[in-house]
Amino acid sequence: MRAGRGVGHGKVLLFGEHAVVYGHPAIALAVDRCTEVTLTPIDGPTHVRSEHADPRVREAICRVLPDHGHQVEVETRLPVGRGMGSSAALAVALVRARADLERTSLGPSECYGAAMPIERAFHGNPSGVDVAVSAWGGCLWFRPGPPPERERLEPGEWQIVVLDSERTGNTAELVAQVAARRPSVDPVLERIGALTTQARAALRDPEALGELMSENQALLSQLGVCTPELNALVELARGAGALGAKLSGAGGGGIVISLVRDPGPVLSAAEQAGVPAFGCLPWVA
Ligand code: PMV
Repeated sequence: MRAGRGVGHGKVLLFGEHAVVYGHPAIALAVDRCTEVTLTPIDGPTHVRSEHADPRVREAICRVLPDHGHQVEVETRLPVGRGMGSSAALAVALVRARADLERTSLGPSECYGAAMPIERAFHGNPSGVDVAVSAWGGCLWFRPGPPPERERLEPGEWQIVVLDSERTGNTAELVAQVAARRPSVDPVLERIGALTTQARAALRDPEALGELMSENQALLSQLGVCTPELNALVELARGAGALGAKLSGAGGGGIVISLVRDPGPVLSAAEQAGVPAFGCLPWVA
């Protein structure tokens, strides 16, 4: 029997992280970095070969596969635990690989439905935005349901440069930390939601979008999920001419995204400062 293969893409959150957990909208962009899962039928106990550094990978796989009969290989080009949706990408790759092994194919809705229980094994109570953008691709407007609101958006003439703090953030812990500060942070979450709605209308205006991104960053700082290292990366990007910059994902570590017309100056400034950085191309299904 032939092997089954599945791919799941990572993402950056342009706007709305944390607020999206409480029913506000978010805007996510699927990126050209992905996780690939290969399932090979074997006569023996299921075992996993993974370069994915997260120990919860095995638990996630156990939710989907019987404990006998599969060799599972996981390869990823996504930094793990840095806010780029590596767990959602794994979940999507896994359910697509299983479908491929069974010679069926999954549409994005079925893929979303099958991958969400796996994402819950990682994060407890995820909003679903990471799984949705990995399943549908592109630039996605998302508001949790039921049913979730989802719409493909058309981005303008801008690009994203990612700066990596090289520290991991624990999404479940950070979401719990914000939850513990409610209801006093509810007005901040509402302002993030309102700003995301404004950003949707400004997607083709890079200067306005950059401003809104930086406002979103200030609100994330008020939520308490930013760190001095992330603030320094925001400053580095702004100092090199980025139109806007913010942490992306749960925070507490992870990545900063910057909005640019030309990635060159931010990439050079990061290289000079010894900060790992890369440009992200959108992935469209
Ligand atoms: O850190 P990531 O890539 O898992 O993104 C988390 C985004 C949150 O809004 C903080 C949580 C969620 O479930 O939407």
